Amino acid sequence: MDADHVPSEITEILISESRIQERLAEVAAQVDADYAGRDLLLVGVLKGATMVVADFMRHLRSHVTVDWMAVSSYGSGTQSSGVVRILKDLDTDLDGRNVLVIEDILDTGLTLSWLLRNLKSRGAESVEVFTLLRKPEALRIPVEPKYVGFDIPNVFVVGYGLDYAERYRNLRQVGVLDPRVYGG
Ligand code: PRP
Repeated sequence: MDADHVPSEITEILISESRIQERLAEVAAQVDADYAGRDLLLVGVLKGATMVVADFMRHLRSHVTVDWMAVSSYGSGTQSSGVVRILKDLDTDLDGRNVLVIEDILDTGLTLSWLLRNLKSRGAESVEVFTLLRKPEALRIPVEPKYVGFDIPNVFVVGYGLDYAERYRNLRQVGVLDPRVYGG
């Protein structure tokens, strides 16, 4: 979606396209340094993390491999429930691997907390997290990502991979959705 075609139901652009890309480059430089000389597997969590993974991995200088998981947090509307089901599992054996899970958003922490337990049980050497966005006020379970793009307020955001009812993922920015759209 063009930068100048932001839908009217986006009430505020919280993070611009250029700030996202600058921050991804900074985090990529940290990851390059932290994992120097070690093999690294990126695990993108579908569908929200598609944009982050695609842009982030192009900022990396290291050779990495990438795999994807799709999980579903049961729950309706704008909140996850903590009951997680694997819709698509990894193709990669994690035994001895250094894994960096990439998420678009850490909200309540219910999804990541479950996912980290699941991945750690598969024999990985290390499992860490990079989340582009984190809502500190919404966190219900302690999850400590090694890398965080931006801390944001507890508002409903869409764009850059994040959806409401599968829409707005193809916005280039992260924006605040008008609560009237989801009856908030
Ligand atoms: C979003 C996001 C995280 C999760 C975060 O996924 O990608 O996986 O919610 O919420 P939590 O911290 O409260 O658990 P969603 O279930 O909306 O699926 P999607 O990525 O396919 O949009």
